[in-house]
Amino acid sequence: MTGGTTPLTSLPAFKALGAHHASLRGVHLRELFARDPGRGERLVAEAAGLYLDYSKQRVTDETLGLLLDLARASGLRARIEAMFAGEKLNVTEGRAVLHVALRAPRGARIVVDGEDVVPRVHAVLDRMADFAGRVRSGAWTGFTGRAIRNVVNLGIGGSDLGPAMATEALRWYADRRLTLRFVSNVDGADFVESTRDLDPAETLFVVASKTFTTLETLTNAHTARRWCVRALGEERAVTKHFVAVSTAEAEVRKFGIDPANMFPFWDWVGGRYSLWSAIGLSLMVAIGPERFRELLAGAHAMDEHFRGAPFERNLPVLLALLGIWYDDFFGAETLAILPYSHYLARFSAYLQQLDMESNGKRVDLEGRAVDYQTGPIVWGQPGTNGQHAFYQLIHQGTKLIPCDFIGFLRPLDEVGEHHPLLVANLFAQTEALAFGKTAEEVAAEGVPALQVPHRTFPGNRPSSTILAQRLTPAVLGALVALYEHKVFVQGTIWRLNSFDQWGVELGKALANRITPELTAPAEPRLTHDSSTNALIRRFRRPGP
Ligand code: F6P
Repeated sequence: MTGGTTPLTSLPAFKALGAHHASLRGVHLRELFARDPGRGERLVAEAAGLYLDYSKQRVTDETLGLLLDLARASGLRARIEAMFAGEKLNVTEGRAVLHVALRAPRGARIVVDGEDVVPRVHAVLDRMADFAGRVRSGAWTGFTGRAIRNVVNLGIGGSDLGPAMATEALRWYADRRLTLRFVSNVDGADFVESTRDLDPAETLFVVASKTFTTLETLTNAHTARRWCVRALGEERAVTKHFVAVSTAEAEVRKFGIDPANMFPFWDWVGGRYSLWSAIGLSLMVAIGPERFRELLAGAHAMDEHFRGAPFERNLPVLLALLGIWYDDFFGAETLAILPYSHYLARFSAYLQQLDMESNGKRVDLEGRAVDYQTGPIVWGQPGTNGQHAFYQLIHQGTKLIPCDFIGFLRPLDEVGEHHPLLVANLFAQTEALAFGKTAEEVAAEGVPALQVPHRTFPGNRPSSTILAQRLTPAVLGALVALYEHKVFVQGTIWRLNSFDQWGVELGKALANRITPELTAPAEPRLTHDSSTNALIRRFRRPGP
């Protein structure tokens, strides 16, 4: 990597950004817009059906120039090529990072370990399409011969959040005769509540797990099997009511699912990047193979843009650089994702894993502790609900919270005046955050002096606005790919391995140690710290 030996914070571009920040931090967005009235039409970029307005960000042309210098000094171009070429960028696990191959069109060529993986990808997509078609048409029947009416995805993390988010986002396109549920939590309440009203004879379980060893998913899968076999009377029922999505055929066999009913994917697909793989099977059943392919095509359009567009017009690069500007120079700790679409209710939760599991790291690729801020805390809720909950803090609190607003020009459901009301709120929030309302303006409205400071809005609170025409599968694909690549660009500049997740391991190992201590009939000898020991003893105490 260019500059790989020079520490990030010693790169001339990074230092120049520090000096530039000192001169820009006191400048208000009001002033930036006054100086350049065309800014709102100039600081925009468009690709793959998405329009990005970043004019309400606290940047000037100089800021953008310096951020682009930083991207270049970080060897970003070469790193993008390395990803698309199947290089093993996930160095701690020795794996390629090729979610882009999952949405490459038939005939494209992407080689991993000497093998073109694109034909394999399409062979699995074709099998998925065949299976999804049979479930949707009623040709695939349950053990008693009844058609499948319910599909329950059992998975967690990347094996849940992607398909769950996208199934909700694309519900408008779904076959409404089918009920889709997603069970992820090891809390039995999740399984019980999700299956309470389902008939086992009409229910198909998709056990989705890359490793097929994840405790939560395997626990839910065993519970599901008991639920199914108890109701249908025979172990043999499992073949008609369970399919698996995994990279681990041996583990799938061990569970008792016939590999003929297994849809594979590969170790070069990270869990949080796996929506496009067979992990999307439940989504494909819901919306149909054609719509699923449109989702892939939308993501591919963003891939092409990311790979080919100059950085100054490149949406993922721009979003990434803006994030670095706030994280590393303004000291912002979080990023709010605010979709003005009810269908995108799970989008922020999905991005939490994508971003925080990828770039929530404190050592660089060489294992050295970094001396700069890395990935932000990602959070958010769909608008307008958030406006009546936490926007107060964004407008008038003491913290700087960069926001990404996401909206659609046309609704899927025309219901009275709802859509203009929704979009007016989105636009109004970006305006209020940027420009605020001065004490003079408040006083001029006749507000009592006592209230003036309370009703003043400082403004200068940055946001991006991402707009698309309608929420289609292709637009969703482009939107998700936009954020995937944003995370990649930031990881490149921060010199992180964005594709491992060792930070989840310690808790898993300790839970495995504690579980038998909670359930052992004889009082175990506890050797934890005094707090953990006391919690365990409290759990073991007989309840009232
Ligand atoms: O939380 C850790 C993690 O490994 C995620 O990265 C992954 O998406 C999730 O667990 C589920 O893993 P699997 O698909 O192997 O069950």
